[in-house]
Amino acid sequence: MSPQVKLHQILDWDSPQQNASLRRELATGLLQAQASIAPKFFYDKLGSRLFEAITELPEYYPTRTEAAIFARHLPAIKQALGEDFTLIDLGCGSCGKAGNLFHAEILPARYVAVDISVDFLRDSLQHLKRELPAIEMIGIGLDFTHEFQLPDDVPPKRRMFFYPGSSIGNFSPSEAGRFLRRLATQMDTSGGLLIGVDLIKDSALLDAAYDDALGVTAAFNRNLLRHVNTRLDADFDIGDWRHVAFYNPAETRIEMYLEARRALSANWPDGAGRSRRHFAAGERIHTENSYKYSPEGFTALLTSAGFADIQVWTDPRAWFALFFARRAG
Ligand code: AVJ
Repeated sequence: MSPQVKLHQILDWDSPQQNASLRRELATGLLQAQASIAPKFFYDKLGSRLFEAITELPEYYPTRTEAAIFARHLPAIKQALGEDFTLIDLGCGSCGKAGNLFHAEILPARYVAVDISVDFLRDSLQHLKRELPAIEMIGIGLDFTHEFQLPDDVPPKRRMFFYPGSSIGNFSPSEAGRFLRRLATQMDTSGGLLIGVDLIKDSALLDAAYDDALGVTAAFNRNLLRHVNTRLDADFDIGDWRHVAFYNPAETRIEMYLEARRALSANWPDGAGRSRRHFAAGERIHTENSYKYSPEGFTALLTSAGFADIQVWTDPRAWFALFFARRAG
């Protein structure tokens, strides 16, 4: 780590206590009637790289649509963020989106990069710091889907949370409301939130975006089991599992699953013995929801979570929206 970049490793798989609680979380999900694994477990180092590859796919419109909105509305975004702020990037991944802002002269006093994938975060942030040595940079390896407290070296004034990419869609609307409310409590009235949200649209476009012809999304989904094998010492055979993703219009969400190709069981060590889960042929593990919103619906969610002065920018086809909101006074 270069000396100028501070790294707080709050999420730590090597801490026995955290390791036990993360394993318990995985085991609990796998043993439910409808088995599930939370989407945050997609992002080991390879998973983060596979997601980067997804963003390049012709079918996966969110990343490039959001980038076009940024490019088109830079002056308004710069105006909204103001001067001398701390940019807190939630789920920064490659830190590429923050990098784009910096290269467009939207420069924070301080950049705080948060990601669950600690190793990927370290590499990404080091790379960015080399390009932009004048900006103070702090990395935080953290699972921000749980309650969190920012470390003391993040000053309380002018905190601008940056949550691009529509990852808010991984939460249900009520969970998203609670998450946004928690963010609001992490800032004072000088703070704000710049957030990307995917919009409700034609099912065929959505289905293709989450089940691409090249099979990269399938690889991303199936890599989850590889990660679980490593973390839980489980014995999932990746070849036994098929990628399933489709848009559910009634719930306005993409649902993603891994489906067993045959009857099988998976097992993993659990205290003194082993836990085992049987799967019938065709049985599924739920791995992700990706909720889509209307601009009005998301505005209402922000308002009820304690935000005000809401601005929204969208692309000409209204596929994606970027919101800026301040903490209500
Ligand atoms: C990173 C949560 C925004 O929901 O579009 C992409 C993850 N899953 N393809 C999304 C994802 C399958 C992505 N987010």
